[in-house]
Amino acid sequence: MALAGLMGAGLAAAQTASQNQPQMAEQVFKNIQVLKGIPVDDFMETMGIMTAALQFDCSDCHANAGTDKVDWAADTPRKRMARNMVTMVANINKTNFGGRQMVTCWTCHRNRDRPLVTPTMETIYSTPDLLSDDIIISPPGSPSAASILDKFIQASGGAQRLAGLTSFVGRGTSVGFGGFGGGGDVEIVAKAPDKRSTIILFKKETGRGDQIRTYDGRTGWVRTPLNVLGEFQLFGGDLDGARFDAQLSFPGQIKQILTNLRTGAPNSITDLPAPDSQSSLQKDIATNQTHSVNVVQGTGPRGLLVTLYFDRQSGLLLRELRYGASPIGRVPTQIDYADYRDVSGVKLPFRITYAWLDGRDSIVLREIRTNVAIDETKFGRPAPVKAQ
Ligand code: HEC
Ligand code: HEC
Repeated sequence: MALAGLMGAGLAAAQTASQNQPQMAEQVFKNIQVLKGIPVDDFMETMGIMTAALQFDCSDCHANAGTDKVDWAADTPRKRMARNMVTMVANINKTNFGGRQMVTCWTCHRNRDRPLVTPTMETIYSTPDLLSDDIIISPPGSPSAASILDKFIQASGGAQRLAGLTSFVGRGTSVGFGGFGGGGDVEIVAKAPDKRSTIILFKKETGRGDQIRTYDGRTGWVRTPLNVLGEFQLFGGDLDGARFDAQLSFPGQIKQILTNLRTGAPNSITDLPAPDSQSSLQKDIATNQTHSVNVVQGTGPRGLLVTLYFDRQSGLLLRELRYGASPIGRVPTQIDYADYRDVSGVKLPFRITYAWLDGRDSIVLREIRTNVAIDETKFGRPAPVKAQ
């Protein structure tokens, strides 16, 4: 899906209202008929889910998306159809599945605008891909979650060393994907138990806006140029995700931040395939490699569903897959951790790859310094952009 479709007029002004009251979609946007009563950030995730399930671009439903002529509120035939489908899906789930979100856009569409109607001979006689369910059901004989988490704590330096880790600052470069977002200066700051921000600044010449995600233990903000909203405060599933990521920065507390633990059968995961366009930085990113993993699933803040994949050999965390909620199904975010190095006796990942519904980015760190003082403002609302 083209990232260009996401660029739009900054609606941030519409969202400056009171600090801790979520802005609902129908308050900020002009023509909301079915997706009412959800915070704006969750609304945008809902757009992402629709776009991903049909392998669409924003512009397939919104005329002129990706240009400055876009009018998001204007209806198009496909937009009207999508609205009907939201109601249809809600009814199917209510009538047949007690309101559980068992049927989603993806159930039928699977990357197509018009779903397949009849099984093809190719699908009947070829080996199906091994795709896992969102919700893990422990098969008998699977390793205990406690043993997998203990191994992770041990591999990361041990409980005592981890307890001594109170903050860190990582510096490096963003790799970007598909020609977007590469070459930014990255700073990751984290403070125990639950503050974390990722600040990516681009040199003026690139003409690209900065990309900042902050979480201060209570509130979170995102500023990104590739978003209709420009800058927005987190309220929905993204806030729970930001909190969890901040907590996970200090792995010594992993057993306290997840409840309702269960383990899957030992499995394997594969790094994301290489993006189409190659930047020189992308050689640093592993792609298509397969790893044997142990799988632990649990519940994070406010019911956030989280699946963690640990390297079966080293015990270290290779992947976090978390799901936010939306009115039409779960919204996945995947974070891959690699290139663990020893920093003052603690193992920390120097390569982090994020994959959202609407884009990917990798960060390659040059250095991480632990237990340093961090300016608290770095965890708060991003500083206003200076007038040029
Ligand atoms: C499959 C069709 C579809 C796709 C693809 C889609 N949208 Fe939408 N969009 C809708 C529908 C339907 C609504 C109205 C929802 C309602 O009535 O509750 C809407 C409403 C909106 C609105 C609110 C406009 C207003 O003022 O009322 C914005 C902003 C928006 N979409 C942005 C996006 C972005 C950004 C993307 C790409 C990531 C996107 N949409 C992709 C169907 C789509
Ligand atoms: C139960 C199966 C099913 C589910 C679930 C479903 N759809 Fe559909 N959808 C269809 C079928 C079938 C068509 C094609 C209808 C036709 O060709 O007349 C369609 C067509 C569409 C179209 C028009 C595509 C085109 O270009 O002609 C859009 C847009 C769409 N669906 C959006 C959605 C969205 C968004 C969701 C999730 C909220 C969703 N659908 C969920 C079955 C489904």
